[in-house]
Amino acid sequence: MSPAEFALFQEYIKEQCGIDFNEDKSYLIESRLSKFLIKFQLASFEELYRMLNKQQDAGLAEKIIDAITTNETLWFRDKTPWITLEEVLLPAYINEIRSGQRSKVRIWSAACSSGQEPYSIAMCIDRYLKRSRVQDVTLAHFEILATDISSTVLTLARMGKYDTISMSRGLDHEYRDTYFQQEGRIWKLAEVVKDAVAFRQFNLQNSFIGLGKFDAVFCRYVTIYFSEKFKKTVFSKIANSLTEQGVLFIGNSEIFFDYKENYEMSQYKNGAFFRVRGDSE
Ligand SMILES: C[S@@+](CC[C@H](N)C(=O)[O-])C[C@H]1O[C@@H](n2cnc3c(N)ncnc32)[C@H](O)[C@@H]1O
Repeated sequence: MSPAEFALFQEYIKEQCGIDFNEDKSYLIESRLSKFLIKFQLASFEELYRMLNKQQDAGLAEKIIDAITTNETLWFRDKTPWITLEEVLLPAYINEIRSGQRSKVRIWSAACSSGQEPYSIAMCIDRYLKRSRVQDVTLAHFEILATDISSTVLTLARMGKYDTISMSRGLDHEYRDTYFQQEGRIWKLAEVVKDAVAFRQFNLQNSFIGLGKFDAVFCRYVTIYFSEKFKKTVFSKIANSLTEQGVLFIGNSEIFFDYKENYEMSQYKNGAFFRVRGDSE
């Protein structure tokens, strides 16, 4: 891939999904897009770019975005958000439902990849309710929305079927044996958990207004691919989408310097999360 070709795709990708590749990632774009040169028998990336702009293949733009995104994910990624969900948020939500302060809880997994994150949320809630013998509040009180820009990962997520390698990444045996059924090399997720999550294709560059308000947003390991400016925009739009006292979880190894404008940082058992500031709505 020549520097000029890299510049064309760099700009295109940034415009389409906000992912910011700098020059040292040229090899990544080249390796992820080279399959299209073979498929369409093209001589150069410039030809691919021209084809993309002529819209000869209606689904090409989507396939390029699919190929470019990094979909790495695992179950219960980082330990601390789940501890915070169980020990801080769920007891408060249950009390608020019982006292009539709220009728439901809305949670958004904003870059859900193949579903491990939103399904971890649903399993975490369900197990907590069962373990605490809560009967008047059920998983049906929780609306979990899971979105991603990539249609391929969303198709996988909606199937709720995982191979042994994905199953071995972060899922303990108790969760596995309670919520999955093994069929040969595939593990099928229980319908009760699948039904608790609604999947939808959504680009974080779009307006969040139509999504409604959320009590908690998991926006983890996606803004690491964005420019500082776009990352700031996303976290500010999330602040506007949070209910009073709503919280944002980011990845434990992610850095969010200028959160103070919209959030207050809270620490719980070695994990940080961000509560929207009262004056941010
Ligand atoms: C590395 S995965 C993270 C998955 C999950 N949140 C986790 O922490 O395990 C990043 C996901 O972000 C999605 N993504 C990238 N750019 C996006 C955008 N502009 N809007 C929505 N999703 C995007 C990718 O398709 C990918 O599935």
